[in-house]
Amino acid sequence: MKTAVYPGSFDPVTNGHLDIITRASFLFDRLIVAVVRNPGKAPLFPMEERVDLLKEVLASHRNIEVQSFNGLLVDFAEKTGSTVIVKGLRVLSDFDFEYQMSLMNKKLKPSLETIFLMTSENFAFLSSSSVREIASLGGSVKGLVPSNVEKALARKFRNRKGIARGQDVAKD
Ligand code: PNS
Repeated sequence: MKTAVYPGSFDPVTNGHLDIITRASFLFDRLIVAVVRNPGKAPLFPMEERVDLLKEVLASHRNIEVQSFNGLLVDFAEKTGSTVIVKGLRVLSDFDFEYQMSLMNKKLKPSLETIFLMTSENFAFLSSSSVREIASLGGSVKGLVPSNVEKALARKFRNRKGIARGQDVAKD
């Protein structure tokens, strides 16, 4: 049984993440989507909501699990029996950081391999941060995120839409 872990902040999950998750799930018996508890800065979505949104959208995939983790990724991998870390690469600028991180993880746990899947070209421009910014400024994120995330973003920013467009709207 070959288990892999696909870690990230998923704040929120995008269609680019889902592309990597689906393709990785065909390569392994079990894929754990691991949501980091503390992504460094305050997330837009609390950890429970990021996990729930992922669980909802991945519910029909039998070999994919969604879990959260705190601490080192290598420790989470060991605890869950994962022997491979899956990462997505979009553009060349991702490479520097991801390469460094893979070398550091290898140093911490030499038996753990990192593999990279190239993001499909239609998602190469897509990031959670751009989704957050577009939604916060009242733009459409249709086609960039699954529909449950689209709704969750709309709920989060519905009071800010008028403000983003320069109107003065009352909050309810
Ligand atoms: O989606 P992100 O924010 O790019 O994901 C980053 C993540 C979660 C993969 C990375 O921050 C991570 O692995 N965090 C766990 C802490 C850890 O193991 N740090 C050492 C990595 S060299």
